[in-house]
Amino acid sequence: MNGELKEKKYEGMESLTTAIIVCDRDLIIHYINPSTESIFEVSAKQAINNNISIFFEDTNNFFKDIIQKVEAQKNSYKEHEFFIQTHQKKTICVSLTVTALIESKDEFIIEFVQMDQQLKVAREERMFIQQQANTELLRNLAHEVRNPLGGLRGAAQLLEQELSEDSLKEYTQIIINEADRLQNLMNRMLTPHQMPIYKKTNIHEILERVRSLILSEFSTDISFVRDYDVSLPEFVVDREKLIQAILNIARNGAQAMKQNKQEEMKLSFVTRAERQIVFRKKKHATAIRIDIIDNGPGIKNELIDKIFFPLVTGNENGSGLGLSLAQNLIALHQGMIDCHSVPGKTIFSIILPIENNLEPTKDKK
Ligand SMILES: Nc1ncnc2c1ncn2[C@@H]1O[C@H](COP(=O)(O)OP(=O)(O)OP(=O)(O)O)[C@@H](O)[C@H]1O
Ligand SMILES: [Mg+2]
Repeated sequence: MNGELKEKKYEGMESLTTAIIVCDRDLIIHYINPSTESIFEVSAKQAINNNISIFFEDTNNFFKDIIQKVEAQKNSYKEHEFFIQTHQKKTICVSLTVTALIESKDEFIIEFVQMDQQLKVAREERMFIQQQANTELLRNLAHEVRNPLGGLRGAAQLLEQELSEDSLKEYTQIIINEADRLQNLMNRMLTPHQMPIYKKTNIHEILERVRSLILSEFSTDISFVRDYDVSLPEFVVDREKLIQAILNIARNGAQAMKQNKQEEMKLSFVTRAERQIVFRKKKHATAIRIDIIDNGPGIKNELIDKIFFPLVTGNENGSGLGLSLAQNLIALHQGMIDCHSVPGKTIFSIILPIENNLEPTKDKK
């Protein structure tokens, strides 16, 4: 087949996030798109001119029947949500559509939508909307509270000057101190206003910094496991903001393990490359995944669905802002945070696209 013609015919399928396999009546593969390569872990080179059984076990008759139906009925065929086992022994839940390719006589498009993936995208979408609502709520609340708080503090100071009895000043001091405490909380609630400084940075440099901050705060009782993919490229980020976000997450893990008074306190930092990943309605060719894992007691059941909300805390002295801030800071980098927690293992995964449209900040002369 002419290479150029071949490319044109399949062009539109290259960037689809669903897995596409084009094959003939005998199930010989003519084309697969990049999503198929990543979902089924088979390269195009291995697949093309091979039988579809390179992907799945014992499914030849299943696919042959479907193709016969498509030919006879001159219509596309759909199969909703079923499990299929890949040759890599992975069981995945998919929906499938088979259509005849219009441009050619003896070719069929088999399109797979991975259901787990769909659920993940929907969940991520909800998290993002929630995060935007958080930011709005914080801004409004801090704005509403800050001004009257200044007035309250000023009035208490004036009152103190008028009081002749020292014993009464104790009360005005309480008002002033509590107003200051509230003011600090409001300041933390607002995402820092400093101008961002974007620079090409290595993710491991950031993780090493977080590691040393955690070790100095929690002493060396914590053992660190570092499983880094050193081939990850540098990317443009605001270093300080990423350190803050990852520190907030790692600190929670360390605090949970310490409160649990467990003998072995272990924190792991894992980095990996993710390819062809979809989130926030965008497909990213490559992204960096950072897993922050602790072996603490896990997130309390009643908190699990709301830990990213501001002011939600399970700690007596917590303000419940750490994760909400972390989520805002990661969103500034067009990334997302996901979380899975069971007793003994809590994983926070941060996914950051490598091509993020952030421009390195120019040095001031
Ligand atoms: N790794 C973890 N293990 C167990 N529980 C966790 C973990 N991470 C978060 N949590 C729970 O989620 C809650 C919210 O965390 P968040 O960082 O937002 O607030 P905080 O730690 O309570 O207060 P702050 O970070 O503002 O000092 C925590 O109070 C804790 O109950
Ligand atoms: Mg915290």
